[in-house]
Amino acid sequence: MNLNLVDFSWWHVTKAHQIDKEAFNATAWSLETFWNELSQQNRYYLALVDENKEIVGFGGIAFNGSDADIQTMVIKPEFQKKGFGKKLLDALLEKIKENKVNRVFLEVVADNKPAISLYLSRKFTQIAKRSNYYPNGSDAVIMQLDLRAR
Ligand SMILES: CC(C)(COP(=O)(O)OP(=O)(O)OC[C@H]1O[C@@H](n2cnc3c(N)ncnc32)[C@H](O)[C@@H]1OP(=O)(O)O)[C@@H](O)C(=O)NCCC(=O)NCCS
Repeated sequence: MNLNLVDFSWWHVTKAHQIDKEAFNATAWSLETFWNELSQQNRYYLALVDENKEIVGFGGIAFNGSDADIQTMVIKPEFQKKGFGKKLLDALLEKIKENKVNRVFLEVVADNKPAISLYLSRKFTQIAKRSNYYPNGSDAVIMQLDLRAR
C-alpha cells in the first residue's frame, strides 16, 4: 500500500473534517476549527494521501516557544494498524526536532489504548490525568516527550 505524507492544504479540509467526525464523533473539530488551525503561523500539518491524492489521515503540531503540542492525529479506520500512524507521528517529531523544541505535549482520551500505545512507543510519558475532561465525561491523559533528556 503506497501512501505518502504531503503538506496539508486547504483542499484537504472537507475530507479531513469527515474523517475527523468519524473518528471523534461529539468531540470532532468543526470546519471553523480546521480553518482556524490552518490560518495560524505556528502550525505545521501533514496529510497522508493515497495514490489518487485522496486524504486518508492527517496530523498537526502547534509550536509555542520552546514547547510544541501535537494538536491532533487521525488515520482512517481502514488504513489503521499498518504503520501509518507511526509514520505520521515520526514525521511530526522530525519537524519538532528541527525546530529545537524542548518539550512536546499532547492530550488524549484516557481509554484510547491505540493512541496511548503509539505515544508510549515514541517515549512520551503520562504527566497528568484530568477527570471528566471531555463533554461526555471521559478523562484526559496529558503526555509529554522531553527532548532535553536526549
Ligand atoms: C491512534 C492512531 C492514529 C494510530 O494509527 P495507526 O496507523 O493504527 O498506528 P500504527 O499502525 O502505526 O501503529 C503504531 C502503534 O500504535 C499502537 N496501536 C495501534 N493500534 C492499536 C490497537 N488497536 N491497540 C493497541 N495498540 C495499538 C501500537 O503501539 C502500534 O505499534 P506496534 O504495531 O508496533 O504494536 C489511530 O488508531 C487513529 O487514528 N485513531 C483514531 C483517532 C485517534 O484516536 N487519534 C489520536 C488522538 S490523540
